[in-house]
Amino acid sequence: MSSLGSPHSQAAVTGVDAEAVASARTIRSVYVYEAPVRLWHWVNALAITVLAVTGYLIGQPLPSVSGEASHHYVMGYIRFAHFAAGYVFAVGLVARLYWAFVGNHHARELFTLPVFSRAYWGEVITMLKWYLFLIPKPGQYVGHNPLARMAMFFCFLWMSVFMVLTGFALYSEGLGMGSWADTLFGWVIPLMGQSQDVHTYHRLGMWALIVFVILHVYAAIREDIMGRQSIVSTMISGHRTFKE
Ligand code: HEM
Ligand code: HEM
Repeated sequence: MSSLGSPHSQAAVTGVDAEAVASARTIRSVYVYEAPVRLWHWVNALAITVLAVTGYLIGQPLPSVSGEASHHYVMGYIRFAHFAAGYVFAVGLVARLYWAFVGNHHARELFTLPVFSRAYWGEVITMLKWYLFLIPKPGQYVGHNPLARMAMFFCFLWMSVFMVLTGFALYSEGLGMGSWADTLFGWVIPLMGQSQDVHTYHRLGMWALIVFVILHVYAAIREDIMGRQSIVSTMISGHRTFKE
């Protein structure tokens, strides 16, 4: 019988529970994600959420409200939130790159992919089979699992660089010719055609990132429940605990 609700529930664990505690395996944990990586992860997730909502509304504006536009300034606030989050997102990415140099080896996983390692590709196949419910047990990983790493490298990192380049190129149009944004990012617009093309690609990039986020959150929660190690709490505490 469980001690829960018994008159002795305040006392030390007794009976069956005590036996269960005694026979429980020791939980092993490894410190994986350092504080700057975790802080960056959640700030970045918030910035992308703001960027996707405001970006969507820039392309598909709300129905117009009556009166002088500058009095209610709805699009102004939406664009301001987009640009402010855009700066946070871009500066965050540069800061995250810096941490790849000074942080632990897990901090580098986002920026590198061992494409020439046969073992790596073998692990990618194993994880694919696991996600497709074809094998009963996944591998055990201290850092990112190999499939997640590939998704983060191609679908997050390079998509983010693309969004920063196209975003600041559009932003340079507002700041004007000769501005710092024009000097640094102005070349993107003629490269892609003209302004409207950049708008279209920037918007398509948003959908690509949204697909990544949906799969990423699904995989994180699924792995947490079905996998062999802690996942979501690892991005909060930094520690990876192993269930076996
Ligand atoms: C995750 C990153 C981002 C997402 C999901 C995103 C999304 C969007 C979307 C959907 C649009 C509307 C495109 C259209 O249909 O015309 C847009 C416009 C724009 N975005 Fe972004 N964006 C991101 C990052 C950035 C960054 C880093 C900047 C840099 C400041 C930026 C600056 C702009 C500008 C200037 C516009 C055009 C605003 C206008 O024409 O009024 N974006 N964004
Ligand atoms: C806009 C939303 C999000 C984006 C763009 C995003 C992106 C990322 C990226 C790039 C990493 C790699 C971190 C690194 O190596 O530096 C990561 C890791 C991680 N994210 Fe997210 N994330 C988002 C939202 C979330 C949410 C909502 C959750 C929780 C359910 C989550 C859980 C995790 C976990 C657990 C890891 C570590 C995975 C592992 O240990 O292998 N993420 N995320």
